[in-house]
Amino acid sequence: MQMPYSVIKAPEEIEVIREGGVILSRILGEVVGLVKPGITTGEIDKLAESRMREAGGEPSFLGYKTRASDRPYPTTLCTSINHEVVHAPAAPNRTLKDGDVIGLDIGLRYQGYCTDMAVTVGIGKISKDAGRLIAVTRDALFRGLETVRPGGFVGDIGRAVQTYVEKNGFSVVRDLVGHGVGKNVHEEPRIPNYFDPKARPVKIEEGMVLCIEPMVNVGKFAVVTLPDGWTIATADNSLAAHFEVTLAVTKGGYEILTPLPV
Ligand code: MF3
Ligand code: CO
Repeated sequence: MQMPYSVIKAPEEIEVIREGGVILSRILGEVVGLVKPGITTGEIDKLAESRMREAGGEPSFLGYKTRASDRPYPTTLCTSINHEVVHAPAAPNRTLKDGDVIGLDIGLRYQGYCTDMAVTVGIGKISKDAGRLIAVTRDALFRGLETVRPGGFVGDIGRAVQTYVEKNGFSVVRDLVGHGVGKNVHEEPRIPNYFDPKARPVKIEEGMVLCIEPMVNVGKFAVVTLPDGWTIATADNSLAAHFEVTLAVTKGGYEILTPLPV
């Protein structure tokens, strides 16, 4: 259920989100430390969920519906492997193997407020292309972040991400976007990772709390939804990567509320 919200958060709300963000980064760091050949995505999912509850929070993705018609999201983590871009549910029978690339996306609800973050890591020894994809996607996130300041525009973020990614020969997913965050997993504004000259310009203001999350494909930008109804994969089966942080817009620019563990 959507909760009413304001896109501008009060300092007290940002303080709570900051606390949640610290907890979330610590948990994601622990998850990253566990991923190795032989472990299942189900195992790391259980660990993440227990850690959230121990910290006094709860998984924000578990049970989430994008639209009323959706099936509720089944797990705490999204564990998207290789050509899977985002939103692949964890599964007890899904074992990681040497050479895999896994996107680990995690969302916490803490004292009523959500935080959301993701990293992509290699399992064992990965290909040179895979290593470059991960590095470019991470750097693209920071290119986007560096544009964030009050008075700037949401479109500046996507322009910076897209320019950097395409210069490196990869493509930016268009069907999924970053977003505001707060009492809800997804709030306004939408934050595309590409520049759409036809889009209405949206001004960035102090007090916004935003999730910026470039999704980058080695091949073309088109994606498909797999039959499970959740997993988004590249249409051409090429490798994909995803990084995400939650940030607050400050007077001077931005503050990352979910520091990346890698
Ligand atoms: N970071 C992802 C997003 O913002 C995670 C959402 S998973 C879902 O889309 F299950 F909650 F949809
Ligand atoms: Co998100």
